[in-house]
Parts: sequence; C-alpha cells; structure tokens
Amino acid sequence: MNLQHFLPYSLLFLLLSSCEAKQEVSIPPSLIEQSYSFVVASDLHYLSPSLADPNSSYFHQVINNADGKMTDYCDPITDAFLAEVIKKKPDALILTGDLTWNGAKASHEDLMNKLKAVEEAGINVFVIPGNHDLGAYQPARFSGDTAYVVEAANADWFREQYQDFGLDQAQSFADDSYSYLVRPREDLYLLFLDANSPGGRYVSQKTMSWLRSTLSSLPQNARLLTFTHQNLLVHNARFTGSTMVANADQVLEALDAFPGKEVNFAGHLHIQNIATSSSLDEIDTSSLSVYPCLYGTTSITSEGLSYQAQETNVATYAKDRGLTDKNLLSFATYGRAFFDDYSSRSFDRLWGETDFGIDSKTAKETFLPLHYAYFSGNPLDLAPYQDNVNQMIAHAGNEKAAYLESIVTDLQKHPAGHLTYSAL
Ligand SMILES: [Fe+2]
Repeated sequence: MNLQHFLPYSLLFLLLSSCEAKQEVSIPPSLIEQSYSFVVASDLHYLSPSLADPNSSYFHQVINNADGKMTDYCDPITDAFLAEVIKKKPDALILTGDLTWNGAKASHEDLMNKLKAVEEAGINVFVIPGNHDLGAYQPARFSGDTAYVVEAANADWFREQYQDFGLDQAQSFADDSYSYLVRPREDLYLLFLDANSPGGRYVSQKTMSWLRSTLSSLPQNARLLTFTHQNLLVHNARFTGSTMVANADQVLEALDAFPGKEVNFAGHLHIQNIATSSSLDEIDTSSLSVYPCLYGTTSITSEGLSYQAQETNVATYAKDRGLTDKNLLSFATYGRAFFDDYSSRSFDRLWGETDFGIDSKTAKETFLPLHYAYFSGNPLDLAPYQDNVNQMIAHAGNEKAAYLESIVTDLQKHPAGHLTYSAL
C-alpha cells in the first residue's frame, strides 16, 4: 500500500483531533469488556539465509565470538516464533527494533515475507526500526573464510518498504522518523517512537514536536502504550550512556503530561528486565535470537494490563516440521550451552586476569548462572553463590566489579525475576 494514500487522511485526523483536545472519549461498554492482546518481541537480528553460507568458517567464527546471538539458527528461531504467534492469534504482533543483523536489504526482505504471512493470518503487525536496521553498521554476506559487503537499508528505504507493518494504519505519523500512532480500538492508542536519528540514538526535535502535539490532541481518558527500541529508563546503572534514548528526559517529560500513559515496551539491551519509575514503567523484552528466545504476551482489559514472557519452543517446532538438526531438536540443551559459552568468554575478557581471592574456575562457575538469570529474567536463589560473590566483589575492587555487583543487586531486588508484569 502506498504511503501517499494516507497523507490526506492523516492531515484530516490532525485537524479533527486538535478540535478534540482535552475532550473525553465515550467508550462503548462492549469495548471496555473486550480484552486486546498482542505479542511483543525484540532484537530478532534476522539474517537472511542467502547471506550466510552454513559452511562458511568465517561466519561461524563471527557468530561464536559475538554476544550470544544464535545467528546461525535465526531462521528456524524466527519461524518457530511466528508459528507460535499465528497459533495464539493475538490482535497484533509488535516488534521493537533490531529486526535484522546489521540492516541488509536481503534480510529485511526475507523477514517482511514472513511478516506478510502473519498479517494474512489476520494479525496486525507493527514494527519500529532499531539501530541495527538502517545502515549504521555494515551488513555482510559470508562465504568461505570471507565476508562480502552487501547493500544496506536506510531510513527512507525502511519507511517505504515497511509501510504495510504499521505506517499504513497510522492515524498520525512523524515526517522525519518511523514514529507513528495507531488506534486499534476506541479507548486504546499505541505510539511507536523511532529514536534512530542520523548519527545518534535520539528522538529528533521534529519528531518531539510531533509527539507533543499528538499527545495533546488525544482524549484525556484514553489509554496509551508506547514502544521504543532503546530504553527510556535505567535498567542497569552501568549501562546508561550508550544504551538509552539520549534525550529520554524530553520523551518522559512529554509522556508525563498525558495521564493515560501506562507502559513503555523496549528492547536493545538484550536482557529481560522490567524497570519501574514514579511516572512510567518499562518492559524490556530480551533478544529473540539469544537463548531462551523470549517474547512477551500482553493482554489489556478494563482492569489493567498483564504481560508474560515465554520461551519460543524451537525443539517442538523442529520436531513437528520433521527437521533433523540435532541442535534444534534438543534446543534447550544447545541454547543454554551456547549462552554459557558466551558468558564464559565475557568472563575471560572482563576478569581473566583478576585475582578474586578464590580460584578462577570457581569464580567462573559462580558467574555463569548469575549471568544467565540476569539475561533471561529468571529468578535465582543467590544463597548458594553469595559467599563466592562477596569474595569476588571485594577482591575485584574496581570498575569491573561494579558490573557483577549490578547483576547481584538486580537479582536481589527482583527475587521473582522479570518474566511477568501486571498493572491492575
Ligand atoms: Fe539488538
């Protein structure tokens, strides 16, 4: 569908909605009683199979030394995930950015074909780009022991190509970013905010103006959910400068002025984590391509909102499809081992030379389950690890220990983990 078809309607909506400012919307009882549901996932980092020769030694070298993404299995993981979405048949599927591994056009095109099948099953698909989707990083095709540069998407290409996955249903949208507002039913608005401005991770001033005027035009009793790629709240005190929306303060201030805001959904950090603040809560869904390949199922009722993270069942998908790859058929074992291997490399890189006051093997065995719990949002009883952790933090005694301490603090603060959220 061509974007131009929507321009007159959007302009009309803006004119009409400005007249509606501060009014309350009258919500039919039938809508209030109906729940609205969506599945949210993030950071798929999908890589087209056409770009990754499975026999490429260089490809496996890159993947095995990266950040825990199972890129060599991203195609079956994505297929298994989307099959679960179609089976659940929510009202919408929402993807909060980093759709692709470094923004190759070929990866975007293959993913869009899969998303078309979701829409054909009667499920609306809404996306926003992430920092890896618009050509900020160099996409490649891997063959043998070499990587070849391939064509990257940019913001204009993304806007044109992905318009069937959000922009086509927008009641209002920004001119200079993939930011838009949809109204899936009378009492509910979904606002997607693209913070991938050229050269940085910030919401442009033009999009900020659009955001403020859009919010001021909404009925004050409407409910509003927002979606960003980078986070608006601090999830780990060690990671703020390079991960958050740079002008998150401005965005939060604009959202604060709207009483109906409920939750922001984000990704980017690749950890399953829920942060709360006095004005807004934020659910950060971890990367679909990092084990345990989580996505969130969200239900909105008249009573409130509930969110449940769950694992993609790749092994069952592989078995049902008659796939023979042993790693897929025993995916829980393979995935956890792959993650622990990534954690082990992280440990060696950060603390390989550190004297913890305990032997390094024990220190690493202490770190691995903590790291997995932190990334997967699972609860962890710290008691068996506490003595070793205390030793490690005390002996490391430097900037590096602060990262370990931040993980421990989070696990202590959230004994039930970060898999569920409810605002009732
Ligand atoms: Fe990502």
